[in-house]
Amino acid sequence: MARRFAEITFTPSVVAAQTLYGSRTSNQRFEVIEEDGDPLGEAEARFIEARDGFYQATVNEEGWPYVQFRGGPAGFLKVLDAKTIGYADFRGNIQYLSVGNMNANDRVSLILMDYANRRRLKIWARARIVHTQQNPELLAQLEVPDYKARVERAVVLTVEAADWNCPQHITPRFTMAEIEAIAASQDPPERI
Ligand SMILES: Cc1cc2nc3c(=O)[nH]c(=O)nc-3n(C[C@H](O)[C@H](O)[C@H](O)COP(=O)(O)O)c2cc1C
Repeated sequence: MARRFAEITFTPSVVAAQTLYGSRTSNQRFEVIEEDGDPLGEAEARFIEARDGFYQATVNEEGWPYVQFRGGPAGFLKVLDAKTIGYADFRGNIQYLSVGNMNANDRVSLILMDYANRRRLKIWARARIVHTQQNPELLAQLEVPDYKARVERAVVLTVEAADWNCPQHITPRFTMAEIEAIAASQDPPERI
């Protein structure tokens, strides 16, 4: 998805910055990469469905970006097809900043982190809010069984581009579940 990613992000001011700092030529290769259409392949789908959280940026009417964390059990962000992902939006502090922003401007940007393996995926998408009465089947599909949260709506994201970032500067971090899995796989220390 490097070409679509470049189409979205390489705005005139970004191109000017690339020119100023001498990276314009190396970045131009992204603009001519052959693409096969679907933004999400198998690697992206597996990565997305293994996440237990992500950072989501929205934009308000004034042009201010707003980043908020969305979390849940691993797999709560679901791949619906090769260009659509979605999640059940839980009740929170009832300020509705992200939802309100999405209603004004459907553009969102996500960063999905895998700290343990030092990987991250960036996603650009168009957001659509869906309430239970509009599509109960979709809400049922996105619901997270046995998780203590009240689902208020579904957020469906039509992915326009996805791009992997390099591992540079990601400090490895591990969840309790990952630490327990590592500990369980270690041989116990020998008794003297
Ligand atoms: C009772 C309650 C209080 C919360 N208070 C805050 C808060 O003061 N600041 C904050 O950033 N998040 C708070 N949260 C978490 C947010 O509600 C949650 O991150 C939510 O997704 C925010 O969505 P929004 O920023 O898109 O409106 C609270 C959650 C609950 C359930």
